[in-house]
Amino acid sequence: MRSVEKGENVNQKFDWRRTHPCGEIRKSHKGRKVTLNGWVRGLRNHGHLLFVDLWDRTGVIQVVFDPSHSEALSGGKFHYDAVVAVSGEVKERPEGMKNPKIATGEVEVLMDQGLLFSASKTPPFRAGDKVNEDLALKYRYLDLRRRKDLRENLEIRSRVLKVMRRVLDEEGFFEIETPLLYKSTPEGARDYLVPSRIQKGRFYALPQSPQTLKQIIMVAGWDRYYQIARCFRDEDLRSNRQPEFSQLDMEMSFVKEEDVFRMTEKVLKAIWKEIKNETIGDIPHLTYQEAMDRFGTDKPDLRNPLELKTLSHEMIQKSALRVLQSGLEEGNTAKGLFIPKLSLSRSEGDRLQDFVKSLGGGGLLWIQQTEKEEWKSPVAKNSAIPLKDLFQAGGGIGPGMCFYSVGEASLVNKILSLLMARFAVQMELIDTTETRSLWVKDFPLFEYNEERKKWICCHHPFTSPQGKDIPLLEQKNFSRIRARAYDLVCNGQEVAGGSIRNHQESVQRKILSLLGLTEREMEDQFGFLLSALSYGAPPHGGIAWGLDRLIMLLTGSDSIRDVIAFPKSAGGSCLMSEAPSLPTEEALTELGLTLVSPD
Ligand code: AMO
Repeated sequence: MRSVEKGENVNQKFDWRRTHPCGEIRKSHKGRKVTLNGWVRGLRNHGHLLFVDLWDRTGVIQVVFDPSHSEALSGGKFHYDAVVAVSGEVKERPEGMKNPKIATGEVEVLMDQGLLFSASKTPPFRAGDKVNEDLALKYRYLDLRRRKDLRENLEIRSRVLKVMRRVLDEEGFFEIETPLLYKSTPEGARDYLVPSRIQKGRFYALPQSPQTLKQIIMVAGWDRYYQIARCFRDEDLRSNRQPEFSQLDMEMSFVKEEDVFRMTEKVLKAIWKEIKNETIGDIPHLTYQEAMDRFGTDKPDLRNPLELKTLSHEMIQKSALRVLQSGLEEGNTAKGLFIPKLSLSRSEGDRLQDFVKSLGGGGLLWIQQTEKEEWKSPVAKNSAIPLKDLFQAGGGIGPGMCFYSVGEASLVNKILSLLMARFAVQMELIDTTETRSLWVKDFPLFEYNEERKKWICCHHPFTSPQGKDIPLLEQKNFSRIRARAYDLVCNGQEVAGGSIRNHQESVQRKILSLLGLTEREMEDQFGFLLSALSYGAPPHGGIAWGLDRLIMLLTGSDSIRDVIAFPKSAGGSCLMSEAPSLPTEEALTELGLTLVSPD
């Protein structure tokens, strides 16, 4: 090697700009002189030969130092994570030295010139190390550099965005940006507020979604809008929730539900074709009520073959079983869940009962048919009707266990739907390579919120009631009013949700008043929207996709943090930059703010 230089005046020494990415050198390049740029990964000194694994995003290639040219190593200039340029001839590796595990494994580069761009401190972790997530998030750039799966997720994300833009462009949609410094757009979470310096004491709210703005875009006359929109929601974090996340937000005018479904499916199918080379067939529709009856959830995973069965009150009365009868109050429900071939040990059964109690259930009745066609149940001696009849009523056919829950519908559904998901995993009933999607529609417009002791909207207040339920608005028959709202559910995850909107100002006002807003509050909070609706609003509707959740689904990621370049931790912090942080006194004074407690 002639020289290994420090980064200054590099152009005078040799042209260090890369001729190839590291991962793309093959046997066909044999004899060619190449220049590579990248990071030093492995460094092996075999005495007579010195090896460096040179890495860039595209892969790793082995670089060999001629023994007489080992200055780079002896000078300690090439070290783990140093950024270097290397130039030399591509050689075929000798037989027995080839590495079939890497794409460049048949070749190596015999270095004759090298350059150190930047040194690296000893990193807190290396490729392949097991690292606690907080440390990995603090050094996110190193984690992204070392973890191929994370980088691949982000590359898929980039490709998905391209497909979305391509298909929507072909369909005549316009991409229109809406402001982030805005007014509250309620989607059920708390707002992030931004203080105004010029108008002291006043605050912008970061949008929970561009909902009202996209509706106003329809009033303005565009009939097909989309945006890759950043949304902000101050709510408790979960594995599929971030305070700041992205939506593919769409809106169309002069449409009905089917038009939104068709457009959404077009985009979904194109994404699956492009990214997974899979064809998505027809997507079934279920009403909210059907989904709750059959699966106990509005996000059923259709890959799971298990279903719930509703038992008649008459059968429960005939059984004379106190455990079942005691839950049968007016309006309550009784359901069974059959798990074929299941048999539980006593301790597994106890754990199951504990789980049900932790959910607020009193306990779980079960009946088992064994392989030898025997019947087992804690109530075997008490039932006034044959166990077989109860078993079949709960969906039981052949050997397996049937579980029963009776009580308030939401609790019964919660318990049995969670058991359904749990047993599907335990019994390996789900083909994880499959994607099964469905539309859930006809949601209720309102739901009762126990904490706030009031009726709130299931989706958001701009969703239209179903035409035939509009008279129920006058009667304040909250629980029976259905909405023109829909969700796209894939493998048990809500990937997108939307609705047909209230384009008539009077209906919009009525709904806001049913939510308890006074005329004054309506004007303060939504005056701009009500005004827009009063100047010729077309019928319109749309949908928003949770982009991060979609990428989780496409990449099989369990955590939303694995599909976002710079995610927040479970505590809502960016551990890399340490945001949120305390503002300076000067910034607070300029904003006219005083902290009550800096802690
Ligand atoms: P919605 O509130 O259902 O609808 O949101 C649409 C989709 O966004 C995703 N999502 C989230 N993803 C990550 N982190 C979060 N905290 C989070 N919250 C929601 C979900 C969800 O399906 N304006 C309406 C849409 C419309 O009516 O057109 C809206 O925002 O995947």
